[in-house]
Amino acid sequence: MIVGFCGSGNMAAAMARGLAGQVDGLLFTDGGSGRAADLASELGGEALASNGELAEQADVVVLAVKPAKLSDAAAELGGVKVVVSLLGATALETLREAFPDAEVVRVMPNVGVEARKGVLCVAGEPDSDVRKLLEGLGHVVELPDSQFDAATAVMGCSPAYLALAVEAIADAGTADGLDPDLARELVVETAAGTAELLRAHDPAALRRAVASPGGSTEAGLEALDREGAREAFEAAVRASLERMRG
Ligand SMILES: NC(=O)c1ccc[n+]([C@@H]2O[C@H](COP(=O)([O-])OP(=O)(O)OC[C@H]3O[C@@H](n4cnc5c(N)ncnc54)[C@H](OP(=O)(O)O)[C@@H]3O)[C@@H](O)[C@H]2O)c1
Repeated sequence: MIVGFCGSGNMAAAMARGLAGQVDGLLFTDGGSGRAADLASELGGEALASNGELAEQADVVVLAVKPAKLSDAAAELGGVKVVVSLLGATALETLREAFPDAEVVRVMPNVGVEARKGVLCVAGEPDSDVRKLLEGLGHVVELPDSQFDAATAVMGCSPAYLALAVEAIADAGTADGLDPDLARELVVETAAGTAELLRAHDPAALRRAVASPGGSTEAGLEALDREGAREAFEAAVRASLERMRG
């Protein structure tokens, strides 16, 4: 399968890095910055001069422009057969109106796709080839279009929130005398192991298992409660959702 990226920004780069070596070819366009050529040379693909050529040569076009560029891109992509849209806050119906003759799938990936460990929310009816393509990038969840904004607020934005937690815990360790690289390694590997355990265990049960009564973890959790950690995460998700809904 030849995959064409209309737009070569941050999300296209993450997804293309995850797909490199898994597909027959990668094609890229941009709005003139040269990022398409950079990605093509990094990943062994090809930068094309126009979206018309992209529509002609790609089996699937991944739409990775900003939502405001939807109508420009749709006009330039005439004749496209299959569109996988990554556009935030852009409903399936809007996409189908923009591409009336194409098979359209709406996908909300997170940056984990770069490591093939992403989460990808999917609306529409991907055929088996597109589904396989998406499954190669991580954990696929089919979701009604109406729940995409709420889902995005928890899976699209949260890599940044979790990165902040890792950074803050490692910084606290560094302040207490640990080498910064070692502190980061300790926290990152702990996060990876915790994620694995959370696949099988309820978060509250895991917290209870680590925090024995009167122990140091319990003292830490009490401090997090006092400082409003839970409320801060709730506020972050709410703020993301409000920004998304304009
Ligand atoms: N970043 C994320 O974590 C994330 C997650 C999920 C979904 N998304 C969605 O992914 C989309 C892209 O986001 P992003 O963060 O990657 O944005 P970005 O870094 O600003 O990239 C946008 C890309 O679109 C290109 N472009 C603009 N007009 C074009 C046209 N007519 N034809 C071809 N390319 C064109 C830009 O070209 P230039 O390089 O020339 O400026 C740029 O390469 C958005 O709709 C966003 O909602 C992003």
